[in-house]
Amino acid sequence: MKARDARVLLTGATGGIGQAAAGALLRAGAQVMLQGRSPAKLAALARALPSADAATPAAWHACDLADADTLGALADAAGRWGCNVVVHNAGVPGFGRLESLTPAALQQVLQLNLLAPMLLTQALLPHLRAQGEARVVFVGSVLGRLGLPGYSVYGASKFGLRGFAEALRRELGDGPVGVQYLGPRSTRTAFNDDAVAAYNRATGTAMDDPETAARALVQLIESGAAERFLGFPERLAVRLNGLAPGLLDGAFAKHRQSLPPARPDTAPGGGLAHGAP
Ligand SMILES: NC(=O)c1ccc[n+]([C@@H]2O[C@H](COP(=O)([O-])OP(=O)(O)OC[C@H]3O[C@@H](n4cnc5c(N)ncnc54)[C@H](OP(=O)(O)O)[C@@H]3O)[C@@H](O)[C@H]2O)c1
Repeated sequence: MKARDARVLLTGATGGIGQAAAGALLRAGAQVMLQGRSPAKLAALARALPSADAATPAAWHACDLADADTLGALADAAGRWGCNVVVHNAGVPGFGRLESLTPAALQQVLQLNLLAPMLLTQALLPHLRAQGEARVVFVGSVLGRLGLPGYSVYGASKFGLRGFAEALRRELGDGPVGVQYLGPRSTRTAFNDDAVAAYNRATGTAMDDPETAARALVQLIESGAAERFLGFPERLAVRLNGLAPGLLDGAFAKHRQSLPPARPDTAPGGGLAHGAP
């Protein structure tokens, strides 16, 4: 699909990758409907973004994706607007040892990163099927194919998303709706807090600019490829991990040793999640 033919519902448009993606899509000629939680942020972003026609800034729709009851209204609004691509980009982090994450943080990660995209896809499918060509694009992560210490729950959400994307792509294979998965590596946005930055420094993990992920998103939509993972050595690690995951276990001792300790005050019942790629 050419970007100029795409009418994209972009979730998480107010975030680091979302803002860069909205700009890259618009510059490539796509129309964009921005989704986030804050009407004020969305209206300001819509005004600030480049637009082919200054009189018609980007459309936007504010809602909390963690509230399953709002997803139908979002799908209806996107359908009326003529959406033929949905980019599931909204997400929350979840970095830290499993014992450091509260049950509430664990549920939030799975709710927003996995369940919300599944439910929104389900609500949008009748509309997308009626298009000549349509796309469902998931912004996952390298950690959707490579499990790292500190990312058990976040990784589960992104592995789940990738499994959902692969099965759905095959399920919809004889129709107009293509399904794609983008796996960025660690990216410089507010998603990653100081603990993640320290972990990345200690493990020699490189970080991309959000524009790198945004460019890759536009290329993925235009290419029609099933999935794409970003960065080296991350792409190689993803491949090796697919072939022989057990062999790679020993390669991540430094990552394990670089994790913040599980503090008693952040044990289940009182802790917070950190950022994550
Ligand atoms: N940054 C990385 O290192 C990295 C690497 C690989 C993959 N990713 C993935 O890339 C995506 C975007 O990440 P980012 O770095 O751009 O994160 P970010 O800057 O923290 O932005 C997150 C976005 O998600 C939205 N969001 C959060 N909770 C929401 C909710 N309950 N309902 C609706 N929207 C909600 C936020 O909207 P508000 O403005 O309303 O808060 C914001 O637009 C995520 O799926 C993430 O997993 C990130």
